[in-house]
Amino acid sequence: MHYDKENLWQIEQQGFDEQLLGKTEAVMALGNGYLGTRSSEEETYIGETRDTFVAGTFNSFDENEVTELPNVPDMWGMEFSFDGQRFSLSHGVVRDYSKRLNLKNGELIRTFIWEFEHLKLKFEFRRFVSKNRRHLLFSHLQLTNLSERAVNVKMRSGINGQVSNEGSQHFTDGEKGLMDGKFIQMMPVTTHSRIQFVQTVEHKFDKIISERPETGRRSFFMNYSFELAAGSDVSIEKRGSIYTSNDNDIENHELSAIREVAVQELHEIDVLSYEELLSESQYAWEKIWSKHPIEIESENFRDQLAIRFAKYHLHAMAPSHDERMNIGAKGLSGEGYKGHAFWDTEVFMLPYFNFTHPDIAKKLVTYRYLGLDGAHKKAASNGYEGAQYPWEAANPADGEVTPVWGAADIVTGQATKIWSGFIEQHITSDVAFGVKQYIDVTGDDEFEVEKGYEILIDTAKFWASRLEYNVATDQYEIRDVIGPDEYKEHVNNNSYTNYTAHWNVAYVLKLIAHLEASEPEVYARLDAKFDLSVLTEKLSAKVDKIFLPKATVDGIIPQDDSYLSKKILDLRKYKESDGVDSLFHEYNLEQVNQMQITKQADVLLLMLLFEDLFDREQKLKNFDYYEPKTTHDSSLSLSTHAILSADLGKLEQSYDFFNQAINIDMGEYMKSSDAGIHAASLGGIWQMIVFGYGGVRMVNSKLRIEPHLPKEWSHLEYGFDYQGEEISVSADRNQMTLTKPDDGHEIHFLNNNQVYTLKNQLTISI
Ligand code: BGC
Repeated sequence: MHYDKENLWQIEQQGFDEQLLGKTEAVMALGNGYLGTRSSEEETYIGETRDTFVAGTFNSFDENEVTELPNVPDMWGMEFSFDGQRFSLSHGVVRDYSKRLNLKNGELIRTFIWEFEHLKLKFEFRRFVSKNRRHLLFSHLQLTNLSERAVNVKMRSGINGQVSNEGSQHFTDGEKGLMDGKFIQMMPVTTHSRIQFVQTVEHKFDKIISERPETGRRSFFMNYSFELAAGSDVSIEKRGSIYTSNDNDIENHELSAIREVAVQELHEIDVLSYEELLSESQYAWEKIWSKHPIEIESENFRDQLAIRFAKYHLHAMAPSHDERMNIGAKGLSGEGYKGHAFWDTEVFMLPYFNFTHPDIAKKLVTYRYLGLDGAHKKAASNGYEGAQYPWEAANPADGEVTPVWGAADIVTGQATKIWSGFIEQHITSDVAFGVKQYIDVTGDDEFEVEKGYEILIDTAKFWASRLEYNVATDQYEIRDVIGPDEYKEHVNNNSYTNYTAHWNVAYVLKLIAHLEASEPEVYARLDAKFDLSVLTEKLSAKVDKIFLPKATVDGIIPQDDSYLSKKILDLRKYKESDGVDSLFHEYNLEQVNQMQITKQADVLLLMLLFEDLFDREQKLKNFDYYEPKTTHDSSLSLSTHAILSADLGKLEQSYDFFNQAINIDMGEYMKSSDAGIHAASLGGIWQMIVFGYGGVRMVNSKLRIEPHLPKEWSHLEYGFDYQGEEISVSADRNQMTLTKPDDGHEIHFLNNNQVYTLKNQLTISI
């Protein structure tokens, strides 16, 4: 990948390389939260993954498979032949190849000159997914004939349903038709969820051409042919739209009505040029960029680029239009993790939205409210009470959708069972924690009263039923779980799980007492639902007896009951290798389970999220103990380490983690993003900057602002929303200045254990 310090809004690939297809498809993916699409080339290649997804349109391929986001028939493809020669960059000479994404307006541009025998043609492809008209996507080709003679051009373009999710075909073919003589329409339906799709495509040329429609199995193309005189060029535009019967912005979900809406919209924009449509979309992006811009003065220009890269993708993937869906672990940029949402949302991405786009954050937490039924279903099927959130979530009401079988074990050759859906239970307290953070940061009382309390109480109710009594110790334990470190399966008393469950229960006890004393109406409503006095009794009988693993004599909080007695392996060689699975070329999961090898921040994440439970000394000791045993094989790990080490004053090490974290997707390793970009890691980039170096934190419902910049940074500007106020921070190594409009209410915050009040502007030395 190529980055240019003169253009900190651009990521670029220079020179065509088929090895890089997966990488550029994902890191340059386009999207608007409603739909997302990988940036595959117009012409096809072996090894490409040509994906387009519409958020929330889950389907299961057959009864034995969990739901996934179906790969929608492709609308970007264009096949060319010139004087009978099929066009492909796999042959001929390619000059000046550049594929670049402009993060500012979400436009992808691909330019090159292709020479083959007597042919010499110049291509300029441009495309974008509209940010303001969510159903629409546009592409434009300016093709110039640089050959010495006229060239006969043939082009085949339309909608191609011969795509799948790694072989799983999610659509029945459906009707096809030509509307108003020029709009190609395909109407596939998902096989089980029966979601009706309507895809429409229109082509526009600036010269007269001859055309012939061609419908095939799962496809509808137009064949065009024309002569391109030597030295002349042609402009070819392709406009497309995707609607579905799941859309919340159309009232009538009958097929004929959706078709009509789709065609109508294309008619309406007929007068607008590609440029005009792009500038409308750019304007929508501008609104995002102008909200709390982050400016970093750093010795390394990629730091600035990284935050733009992260924000771009977060907004390309977040379904800001609909609370019935959430953000998949790979966003809408790949088939990895099937479009499912994980704790990645609450712990890694939600903070960004809480602090900068509370309207989007609200949708994300409301999704969890809508998920209560699914969570009840999961709890009940496991013999528990309350709400047990699914480890992987798709449609909110579906409950658990984690697949049961994964990759083959290198020792036994058998498929490995994926236990997360059964026993990775910390997701339930993560959801509760996320909801509480949302409420604290935004001050959204309405959500708190109408939805938040229920989530918090129902999750605490789950934990109360989940705890297991140990007669010998007179304590409640949580046995047979997976903590954040997924390399340890079936462990007892994972510290992260026990501490966060304890927080969930203890907080709800306080909450119920508060409601009873001061909000009688709310109390009565929730009492009718949860029988609060009985619940209080249950919770209080257990809360002080929840086993919270204590530090050893060396100050180490055990990750679980058995971790510290396991064998230690020197991990340096695996940590230095590029891929995330090098360890598994030599060991299987069972063997890794028997060693002190941690996949990702576990105890250390606990220390970051619940920082006031542990003192600095303890954090330092645990950091030094666990980090060398952590492979960072999950993209959720490095940002936690970067922030915690910044908190601990290890800024040099922190900045090293920061660099590794931004390289997860932006780095040179070609294969890292093939299955899609790492959504949680993008949230992590924002957190490393604003939480880590900007020093912002919400601890125990109190805001703290304590910047500390790495030595490579001389200045940092950022901003955030806090309880309805917009705060801007400008920090260097010696002081910070906070500003907010003076017409709002005062903000209180902590800095070095001192409470400050911000009215309009305040400067504090660091
Ligand atoms: C990580 C999980 C994460 C999931 C989805 C896994 O590799 O271990 O913590 O939730 O990926 O990103």
